[in-house]
Amino acid sequence: MINYQPFINHISNTRLDHWVKPLTQQLDELWATLNDGNLPRMLEHWDKLPELETQEISLSDTVQLGGLIDELEKDQLTTALKGLMPWRKGPFDFFGVDIDSEWRCDLKWQRVAPHISSLVGRHVLDVGSGNGYYGWRMKAAGAATVAGIDPSWLSVVQHLAVNKYINDPSHTVLPFTLEALTPNLEAFDTVFSMGVLYHRRSPLDHLFELRAALRPGGELVLETIVIEGKEGESLVPIGRYARMNNVWFLPSAATLAQWLDKMGFIDIQIVDQTITSTDEQRHSNWKPGTSLADYLDPNDHSKTIEGHPAPIRATIIATKPVNQRLKRYDLG
Ligand SMILES: C[S@@+](CC[C@H](N)C(=O)[O-])C[C@H]1O[C@@H](n2cnc3c(N)ncnc32)[C@H](O)[C@@H]1O
Repeated sequence: MINYQPFINHISNTRLDHWVKPLTQQLDELWATLNDGNLPRMLEHWDKLPELETQEISLSDTVQLGGLIDELEKDQLTTALKGLMPWRKGPFDFFGVDIDSEWRCDLKWQRVAPHISSLVGRHVLDVGSGNGYYGWRMKAAGAATVAGIDPSWLSVVQHLAVNKYINDPSHTVLPFTLEALTPNLEAFDTVFSMGVLYHRRSPLDHLFELRAALRPGGELVLETIVIEGKEGESLVPIGRYARMNNVWFLPSAATLAQWLDKMGFIDIQIVDQTITSTDEQRHSNWKPGTSLADYLDPNDHSKTIEGHPAPIRATIIATKPVNQRLKRYDLG
């Protein structure tokens, strides 16, 4: 139902070539068994995006697409993009239609980008990519390929909307979880997992699966919510955390580094820890409803509304060693 052939052609005859066959098979099976009304409904909005000629592309803090547009086309564009709400990740500017998303993703990218190895010529996997905002920043930084994976159809279709006007076959968002990705690809130069680990009930398995996607010597960029605390400490919030009911483990940054060590990573560096601010995650007309300010204790922003420590986000960089197999007992 979504044409991934341009991406598959792009990775053919590259270091990702061994992924072509299982990926094609996985997509064929997905389309054959798909029984989900959401995707067709979202694609109806995508179909209504007007045909426009993109004359300028700027992949900077705001991902901006520009060109001539008349009032009627602008109305059609706005209506179709509103049909794809909520826009959590951005900001984007489509021909003057400003999508001021709930999250200022540019702020996270500014925290992460200075610490990572150059992306020039790299094949990148972005796990939990959302709509691919960061993927565009990675492309601008020189990545040869960005494969986003995200199980949310809305993310997938929002990416299609952006890429309708950029038309870049080397950047895609595939509708998969990391767990469903072809195992042991051992192919990506850099793997990002940003904002996903705390959603995983089994965070060590998540690290193990990230490692399996990396080539030996490749780099992991891990970003997740942490708590203040010593090595070994982590919070398993009972009930909700900042109104989210799918938050499992919030380790201290030192614990996270320990977990990475246990899973066989080396050169582990905690490069940033930042309290999430209501400037970064805020109310937006493009994501109606609540936002971070509503999830914090109104009298004490150092706590969530449930009384847990408010979100601090850490970025950790680590390397998969070139010549090391995990010991049998580590694999379970
Ligand atoms: C909090 S958002 C983070 C998005 C983006 N990476 C960022 O840092 O802003 C988490 C994303 O991960 C996706 N996700 C959840 N579980 C996942 C899994 N097991 N594998 C891949 N993506 C997952 C969700 O659909 C969601 O888009």
